This record gives sequence, C-alpha cells and structure tokens, in this order.
Amino acid sequence: MNFPIFPKAASTTAAQTDELYFFLLGFSIFILALVFLPMFYFLFKYRRGNRANRAEINLPTTRIEITWTVIPILMVTGLFAWSARVYFYEEVPPPGALNINVIGKQWMWKAQHSEGQQEINELHIPVDQPVKLTLASEDVIHSFYIPAFRIKQDVVPGRFTTEWFQATRLGTYDFYCSEYCGTDHSKMAGRVVVMSATEYRSWLAAGAPRNTLAQSGENLFRELGCSGCHVGSTTVHAPPLEGLYGKMVPLSDGTFVIADDKYLRDSILLPSSQIVAGYQPLMPTYEGHVTEGELLELIAYLKSIGGSAPPKNP
Ligand code: CUA
Repeated sequence: MNFPIFPKAASTTAAQTDELYFFLLGFSIFILALVFLPMFYFLFKYRRGNRANRAEINLPTTRIEITWTVIPILMVTGLFAWSARVYFYEEVPPPGALNINVIGKQWMWKAQHSEGQQEINELHIPVDQPVKLTLASEDVIHSFYIPAFRIKQDVVPGRFTTEWFQATRLGTYDFYCSEYCGTDHSKMAGRVVVMSATEYRSWLAAGAPRNTLAQSGENLFRELGCSGCHVGSTTVHAPPLEGLYGKMVPLSDGTFVIADDKYLRDSILLPSSQIVAGYQPLMPTYEGHVTEGELLELIAYLKSIGGSAPPKNP
C-alpha cells in the first residue's frame, strides 16, 4: 500500500497490527452502517404526513433481545481474543533474541550493541532476526517509537523496559520520541537501518570498538571497586556473582527472586532493599555514581559470567 499518511510495514508485528487495525476499522464501519442506514430509512419512511402503515405489529421481542445481546457478545469476545494474541505476541520477546540497549536522554538516543558498538540517533539491526531492546532513561520519561515496525514503548527513569521486533524488510526507517520530554522533544529522533545478517556483522566489525559491552562492564566492575568485595579471595564477605544471572536467589526474608536485569539493577542502586540470605547489608549504593549506560555495561558483564560456576567457598 502506498498511501503517504500510512507508514510502511516492515516487521512481523506490523503485519499483525495492520490486519487487526483494518479489521476493526471495517467492523466499526459495518456496525455504523447497521445502525444508521435503517435509522435514516425509518426517519424518511415514518416522517410526519407520509402515508405509511403505523398499525401495531407483534414482534417476538424476547428472542430479538437475546439475539442482539448474544451475537455482539460473541463478536467482541472474538475481537478480544484476537487483540490479546497480538498483544502477547508483541510483549513477549522470543528466547534467543539479539539484545540491544537503547538509552534515552534529553534529547538523544544512544544504542549499545553487545559487541561494544555504540551509536547516537541511529540503530543498525539485522533483518529477519528477533531483536530485543532494553530501554533506559537518564532523566525523564521518553518513548521509543518505530512507526514502520508498529512498536512504541515508554522509556521510564529508574527502571528498564523492553520491546522486541523482527524486521522483515531491508531499508531505513524513522524512529521518534513519542512522549513530550522538553524543549527538543520533536528533534529526539533518528533512523533504524535494517541490514542483511552479513552486512550487520561487517558493520559491527568496521567500527572495531576496543571492548565488548561485557568487557567495558568488567573494567567498570574493577574501577568502581565491586571486585574488592565480590571476588573470591577477599576479606569482605559478599555474594559471588559468577553463575548468578537467571538463577533463583534466596533472600534474607525467606523469599526468592530471579537474578534478572531488574534484580541486578536494584542490587547496584538499592543494595539494602534485597539482602541475599546469609549476608550482611554492607554494600553502599551506587545511585548517582553510575550512568544508565554504565549500569547496562555492568549487567552485560554479570550476564557474561552468568554461565560460569561460582568459586568454591574456602
Ligand atoms: Cu524524549 Cu520526547
């Protein structure tokens, strides 16, 4: 379809969203016609002075009531099921999706690829591959919006949000901030470049950053002093972080929590909120000492050691 007010459809989500959108549009027009056409017809037919049959007629009113209650209920329930399917499809990233971090700040977007590439107001991605975005904000609420992919997600300070898509067509598509965030909100935009898998690999290699995201995180882990307590042979007793990511962590209050991005984020910024069972609340907060970008680097590092075995207790 080449209708300029309607964006191109370039992702798997776009196709599903458009089908639902156009069906809802058609369905609404159908219902509108069903109500308004007879209404105008009767307005005309029974207008004052017109010779029409106005004798009372006997209608099976109960049957009519039941019919026009039950049929619309079935129709809207079907619509609900369909919409819910599309919603869950776009909310749940498939396992193994390529993770890219996107950080919003007044007034630009920064992307971090796990190979270490960083880019501003551009996002290079491979075609036909699920891509999951981990979104963070350095200041206020932004919203990451790619019309051609039919995805939009609020980017909220103080937490991570995620969004995923799978691009279906090569090319360049615009993205925007779609949450008013101050003076240059309207300029907080950029473009997504959808490349073939091989082009994407050579693009990643071309910039040749010194460190991968996880390596930058490892450097930070030392610079910030995390390794002083969390590495095996230290005198301070802190939980080992190898093999932690994705596992269940027992907490001192008897509950369990999964060591996901959110848990790691909270542990770095609000360390006293969740204490691992058997440990003292000694860790200082790093709130204000790390940027969102650095936080994501630290998490990338912790993920990279998430598969290794924890060191044996001495
Ligand atoms: Cu950021 Cu609007």
